[in-house]
Amino acid sequence: ARLALVWHYQWVILHDFLPTLVGNELTARVLKDGPRFYRPNGEPFIPVEFADGAYRYGHSQIKADYQLQLGGARFPVFPDLAGFRPLAAEHSVDWRLLFDLPGHRPAQRAKPIDGQLPASLIRLPESITGAVEVNAYRSLAARDLQRGQGTGLPSGEAIARAIGATPLTRKELALAEWDGETPLWLYILREAAVRGNGERLGEVGGRIVAEVLVEIVRNDPESYLANNPSWQPTLPSHQAGTFKIRDLLVLAT
Ligand code: HEM
Repeated sequence: ARLALVWHYQWVILHDFLPTLVGNELTARVLKDGPRFYRPNGEPFIPVEFADGAYRYGHSQIKADYQLQLGGARFPVFPDLAGFRPLAAEHSVDWRLLFDLPGHRPAQRAKPIDGQLPASLIRLPESITGAVEVNAYRSLAARDLQRGQGTGLPSGEAIARAIGATPLTRKELALAEWDGETPLWLYILREAAVRGNGERLGEVGGRIVAEVLVEIVRNDPESYLANNPSWQPTLPSHQAGTFKIRDLLVLAT
C-alpha cells in the first residue's frame, strides 16, 4: 500500500504538477527524451541552480493571507501561520480551499509568479531569520539573491544562451537601474511573468525544474519510472485517463 501511494504521488508530480508549472510540451519532452543538462549518473542530487535559483520561484507565489476553513477568517502568513509550534485548531486546513476539488467552488489562487513578494516575506519574523544585524537579511528576496551570488550561480541570460533560448530583453526584465546580467532567481521570475503570463515558468526556469524533478524520480530505485515506466495509476479518478492531486485528496478525505 505504501508503494502504491508513492507511485500515485510521483505520477501526480510528473503528470499534474509539472505540466501545470512548466507546460505540457516541455514535460512530455523531458519524460520522453531525458535530460539535456542534468547528469545524476546514478547518484541523484539537487543542483544549486535548482535549490538556490529555479525552485525558489515559489516565494513569488505566496499570498499575504489565506483562508483555511470554509467561512473562516483570513490569516496573514506572519505571524499567524508561522510554524515551529503545535497546530492550533483554527489553523487546520480544509484542502478544498487550496485545491480545486470536484463539486466545490474554485480554490484560492496562488499569487502570479512575477518577481514581487508580499510584504510579510520582505520582513520575515525573527522566528524565521534569527537575530539579524542588517535589515535586508529579513527580506526573503534579498536572501534568495544573496544565496545565488554566494553559490556563484550563472546569470539567467547565461543559462538561456546555454540551452538555446532567446534571453529576455531589457524591456521584458523591466529592471530600471540595472545594466548587468540578471541573477538567476530574479530572471526566472521575470521570465514567468512575461513569457508564462505569471502562471508558469519559462524556458530557463522550466528546463531546470523539469529535468531535476523527472530525473530524481527516474533515479529513485523504488519509483514507478525505474521499475515499470509504462505503469498507469490504478486508483479511481474523476476523469478517465487522468489522475490528479484532486483525486488523491478525494481519497484521503
Ligand atoms: C510562506 C511560505 C514560504 C516561506 C516563509 C519561505 C521561506 C524560506 C526561507 C526563509 C528560506 C531560506 C532562505 C535563505 O536564507 O537562503 C527558504 C528557502 C527555500 N525555499 Fe522557501 N519559503 C516559502 C515557500 C516556498 C515555496 C512555495 C517554495 C517552492 C515552490 C519554496 C522553495 C524554497 C527553496 C527551494 C529553498 C532553498 C532550500 C534549500 O536550499 O535547502 N519556498 N524559504
